[in-house]
Amino acid sequence: MGYRVVIAGATGNVGREMLNILAEREFPIDEIVALASRKSIGTEVSFGDKTLKTKDLDTFDFTGWDMALFAVGSDATKTYAPKAAASGCVVIDNSSLYRYDPDVPLVVPEVNAEAVDGYKKKMIIANPNCSTAQMVVALKPLHDRARIKRVVVSTYQSVSGAGKEGIDELWNQTKGLYVPGQEVAPSKFTKQIAFNVIPHIDVFLDDGSTKEEWKMVAETKKILDKSIKVTATCVRVPVFVGHSESINIETEDFLDEHEARDILREAPGILVVDKRENGGYITPIECVGEYATYISRIRQDSTIDNGLNLWCVSDNLRKGAALNAVQIAETLGKRCLKKG
Ligand SMILES: NC(=O)c1ccc[n+]([C@@H]2O[C@H](COP(=O)([O-])OP(=O)(O)OC[C@H]3O[C@@H](n4cnc5c(N)ncnc54)[C@H](OP(=O)(O)O)[C@@H]3O)[C@@H](O)[C@H]2O)c1
Repeated sequence: MGYRVVIAGATGNVGREMLNILAEREFPIDEIVALASRKSIGTEVSFGDKTLKTKDLDTFDFTGWDMALFAVGSDATKTYAPKAAASGCVVIDNSSLYRYDPDVPLVVPEVNAEAVDGYKKKMIIANPNCSTAQMVVALKPLHDRARIKRVVVSTYQSVSGAGKEGIDELWNQTKGLYVPGQEVAPSKFTKQIAFNVIPHIDVFLDDGSTKEEWKMVAETKKILDKSIKVTATCVRVPVFVGHSESINIETEDFLDEHEARDILREAPGILVVDKRENGGYITPIECVGEYATYISRIRQDSTIDNGLNLWCVSDNLRKGAALNAVQIAETLGKRCLKKG
């Protein structure tokens, strides 16, 4: 016996990946429905070897459905997630709307699977920001061994993190640069993204940081440990899929780079590719369509007593969103909503 599952935002980047991953991982499903906005009614999306016709989220009745995986952005989530929850359908949400709500668990199953049990307060579970998800997967096993005190992270985030419009803008702007008269002005991004990098994701806050940077700080504390200090610089780069991060870690106890490599090799969700030779590391192109968070360039930071540097790459549409949401659904099923 399986679950009755709703995918809200099924025509988007994350929604399509959620359908792919549910099928790939053979999530036990009795019935599935794909929802999006009214303009997408009838749009076909793939679910394994089946094709689903998209229905209207606005008129959908969630009664009798077990879980709804949402990837519709914060505005639509605000309208429809409470409706689903009130009908008894557990919402697993990809937007940032509920992440910092103390009554909503924020979950990365490799790190805090047990937090899923807190879903009952609001019938909602939040999925973290894409950059946080992959980073905490890497930090968790090192924190367990040597207690992380401080993290300095710089991100190199792909345009798919900004939705379909982000992908289209990089594609059209790149093509337009080669065709006189067809130049594409920035619209989704604040400056030209083709052949450029932009040190600005989400809105600016009073202290000069951006909301994306603040999210990495607040979410790492909520998921992993509130005592860890994090400082982040988040940068958009002209890559279609795959976020990269340069992470500097300071620990309480000394951790040798060889032991760190061994610990990461054994940790769930991680693949270490770390040969100190040409090409002996992972770049974003190689992580596309994969489940793993890849770790390369593990090395001692010799400027402090207990410091490590590493390079962390993952598919932002998968571990950063869709895969993590499906893993939460699996955890919820196993721990709380047992069937059969
Ligand atoms: N991309 C990432 O790396 C990533 C990572 C973590 C979290 N997220 C979050 O996941 C969510 C979706 O991101 P995405 O990249 O998949 O965006 P996207 O490609 O732009 O897709 C947006 C989806 O939401 C639907 N939608 C938007 N407004 C709607 C409304 N009022 N009613 C019904 N459906 C509506 C769209 O339907 P139509 O096609 O009908 O417009 C589409 O299916 C966002 O909250 C984002 O912050 C994304």
